[in-house]
Amino acid sequence: MKSVNKILFVCLGNICRSPLAEGICRAKAQAMGLQLTFDSCGTGGWHAGEPPDLRAQQCATRHGLSITDLRARKFVTADFDAFDLIYAMDMHNYSDLVRLAKTPAHKAKIRLLLNEVYPNENMPVPDPFYGRESDFEHAFDLLEQAAEVVLSNIKNR
Ligand code: 4NP
Repeated sequence: MKSVNKILFVCLGNICRSPLAEGICRAKAQAMGLQLTFDSCGTGGWHAGEPPDLRAQQCATRHGLSITDLRARKFVTADFDAFDLIYAMDMHNYSDLVRLAKTPAHKAKIRLLLNEVYPNENMPVPDPFYGRESDFEHAFDLLEQAAEVVLSNIKNR
């Protein structure tokens, strides 16, 4: 694979999991001295233009991060060219992205995020949208684990 500079995180609404992934990775990359670009989006566009869900913002704040300035947007096929890696949060997002990919090169950029931590298990980052604070904390914990692996792999390449 060509060098990785731009990483996109994709969930369903782009207001809970993927903005947290974006915020976590941006902060960790900066701390590690890695010059990478991150973005996030949703396979659905219902929340386009909105800031992250308040519970996701509060979860980030509890961990010393701010994701308040992020705004939701829907995935567009141009993202396949704009990003080097595209991480889906669950198999539903993954399948939706694969369906939109028109070339093998585009398809090769799509990965299930937690397979970086738990290879081949196809584990989701469970959607906390209909959950409670503990579900946001669980998602944050999984996203932090994934960020560690993704960024260490890039650093050590
Ligand atoms: P996310 O969570 O995909 O992690 O941003 C959701 C946000 C909104 C909805 C579903 C999931 N929704 O149905 O509006």
